[in-house]
Amino acid sequence: MNTRIRERVARLAAYIPGEQPSDPSVIKLNTNENPYPPSPKVFEAIQRVTADMLRLYPDPVCRRLRESIAQFHGCDPEQVFCGNGSDEILALCIRAYVERHGKIGYFDPSYSLYPVLADVADVGVAPIPLEPDFTCPIPPNRYDVPLFFWTNPNAPTSLLAPKEMIRDYAERSEGVVVVDEAYVDFASQDCVELALSLPNVLITRTLSKSYSLAGIRLGYAIGDRELIAALFKIKDAYNVNLLTQEIARAAIADQPHMQENARRIIATRDRVVRDLRARGVEVYDSQANFVWARPARGTAHELFELLRARNILVRYFTAPRTANHLRITVGTDGQMDALLAAWE
Ligand SMILES: Cc1ncc(COP(=O)(O)O)c(C=O)c1O
Repeated sequence: MNTRIRERVARLAAYIPGEQPSDPSVIKLNTNENPYPPSPKVFEAIQRVTADMLRLYPDPVCRRLRESIAQFHGCDPEQVFCGNGSDEILALCIRAYVERHGKIGYFDPSYSLYPVLADVADVGVAPIPLEPDFTCPIPPNRYDVPLFFWTNPNAPTSLLAPKEMIRDYAERSEGVVVVDEAYVDFASQDCVELALSLPNVLITRTLSKSYSLAGIRLGYAIGDRELIAALFKIKDAYNVNLLTQEIARAAIADQPHMQENARRIIATRDRVVRDLRARGVEVYDSQANFVWARPARGTAHELFELLRARNILVRYFTAPRTANHLRITVGTDGQMDALLAAWE
């Protein structure tokens, strides 16, 4: 073992992102990207970028972007933090709110990045197992952690927990509750109200899914001023680059475009769920831009390999709780027809 590397890092099992194949003919349903293009306003914003703008450092605090986000959510810019993807914000939350050797909480299975971030930050984990049907149990009364990541809708299971359940836990928790709303634009309910009324709740959002902008890396958090101010204290000086700030502002201003794409994806999703169920496949009530399905015949891993051989990539997670299922991103109607045909 190389002794120059910290022991914790040497032992670390790194997060494994979904595959990004270079072959454009692959039907890519493995990383929950949006199959439709972002708002045309985004390209107008790119055109407006000048050499002089690029010559200078970007605004370190994303002032104009935060004003747009604050206006959209009906809060104050001091309640908004922008990050290089919501992943950066999740990492900063651990550094800001959890003492060394403290523990973070989350449901298992949920976003597999959380335990990796905990490991990197030298903090422990106290996951709560989901019920056998993948719904969230009520966290027990004695359970309390300085930081709980409540993924809602959850990934990879696609299910939405009721807002009141999250409120109940947040109201009795001493710690910070981060509601990770990466997929909320495809769901019937969100927790903005909790973030703007409770002192220990933040929500995180991303432009990677519903806004079709995974490539620019922009996430944001909203909530309590003091919690937000702590994130500003510890972030890198220029954590969001200039192009991203300009593009994100244009995208957030064009809500009708985002909502229309989300509506199309929801319609396709609901059709695919009905079709798979008609074939006996166990599919959960998705509130996200992906479905969580257990094949009727054969193993999930066999189906994953079969689809892959037909140039269709979906996501397979090997952990015991997830190994019988596949997570399938909702693509265009054409892509989903190809998936259904191959599945047959
Ligand atoms: C639950 C959840 N949170 C956060 C993220 C990361 O989002 P971003 O692209 O903004 O870093 C993902 C991405 O897959 C996710 O599934």
